[in-house]
Amino acid sequence: DPLEGFREAVLGWYDQHGRNLPWRRTRDPYAIIVSEIMLHQTTVATVAPVYEEFMQRFPTVQALHEAALEEVKAITDPLGYKVRGRWLKDIARAVVEERGGIWPDSVEELMTLPGVGRYTAGAVASFALGIDAPILDTNVKRVLGRYFGIDYKNSRAETQHVLWALAEAVVPEGQASRFNQALMDFGAMLCTARKPLCLLCPARVHCQSGGVEAGQAAEAPFTY
Ligand code: ADE
Repeated sequence: DPLEGFREAVLGWYDQHGRNLPWRRTRDPYAIIVSEIMLHQTTVATVAPVYEEFMQRFPTVQALHEAALEEVKAITDPLGYKVRGRWLKDIARAVVEERGGIWPDSVEELMTLPGVGRYTAGAVASFALGIDAPILDTNVKRVLGRYFGIDYKNSRAETQHVLWALAEAVVPEGQASRFNQALMDFGAMLCTARKPLCLLCPARVHCQSGGVEAGQAAEAPFTY
């Protein structure tokens, strides 16, 4: 069974090779959303020390809400993509002033927060709330696209729809948190964009990519 084989391969690989990252030691929605906004377009290695500094300086959503924007930007701007400070402050205001400090408890409600799309909502729902929500970012699209033989590189609505449906279908019941983190590491460390380590891949038996690294690949048998 390709679906179950995929789950077992990814989770088994993660047990041995998963990264120990600071935002994986918490289930605080605030901490998770801070990490996801920092990780947007930025590498884990760059984000980790900045995340630690930020969480020490602003340990709660209330602390962030009370802080001056300039003080927040002083920490987040060095990451590049300088809208992050504003973005985090907007979320803090929404949670503290409009929701009385209570975080949304579903994907749909999370998506009503400023700047929070389906990916970030899925990350918070699965990592913080333990909801079986899917995530789909560039790395996950590539992993699913290769394994299931889908032309993941095009931006057509149908393709995105199919990829989201797959991301939802692969989540093992009750394990979205671990599985989604595993998928991210799998994409970042093994099933990489360039030179994926197919020879080491525990999911290669059912993978439709044909061994991307061997250069044999028609990477995308199916287009939607
Ligand atoms: N990139 C985006 N979110 C991430 C996470 N939670 N862990 C590792 N890399 C990520």
